[in-house]
Amino acid sequence: MKVGILTISDRSSRGERLDVSGEVIAEVLAGLGDVETTYALVPDEQPLIADKLAEWADDGTLDMILTTGGTGLGPRDVTPEATLAMIDRVVPGMAEAIRAESLKKTPHAMLSRAVCGVRRNCLIVNLPGSPRAVRECLETILPALPHAIDILRGSVGDCAAIPDQHSHEPRSR
Ligand code: MTE
Repeated sequence: MKVGILTISDRSSRGERLDVSGEVIAEVLAGLGDVETTYALVPDEQPLIADKLAEWADDGTLDMILTTGGTGLGPRDVTPEATLAMIDRVVPGMAEAIRAESLKKTPHAMLSRAVCGVRRNCLIVNLPGSPRAVRECLETILPALPHAIDILRGSVGDCAAIPDQHSHEPRSR
């Protein structure tokens, strides 16, 4: 799996804060084994975020882009807008799952406007900015990622024909 980690932070881009959340993403992904990562850091500027998402997704080498930061209600929080402008299709269930699971940990989870979607064959997932939130949200979506990426790569055509990993039985329709 090839993953782009895009940290979106004014303060980190000015060198005023270490990008711990980007490091957390890299650490969680490293624990999965066969993952290659590429990394970029941009300020909370919609055109810069959108350009980087398009550049990475259109390059065709990345399976997924994980963004961190800029999903909240602050005046500079524009990650969801940049993402929505660049994706071809939304994947609402991933954002719903992240928020549902996160709400079990903090009511502040409802303040994240994060979106998930697909541009070309690349899955794009917005994660919140705090290191703890990043870890919690990423762990929520990990179980669905291999299947999502297989489908986007075109290596799975018929989901009904493969066993459901959770029931351990072939799926009936
Ligand atoms: N989700 C989880 N799992 N854990 C958290 O601590 N923090 C929330 C929320 N989502 C949080 C979370 C908070 S405090 C905010 S303001 C929003 O994400 C948006 O964060 P962002 O603006 O850093 O992207």
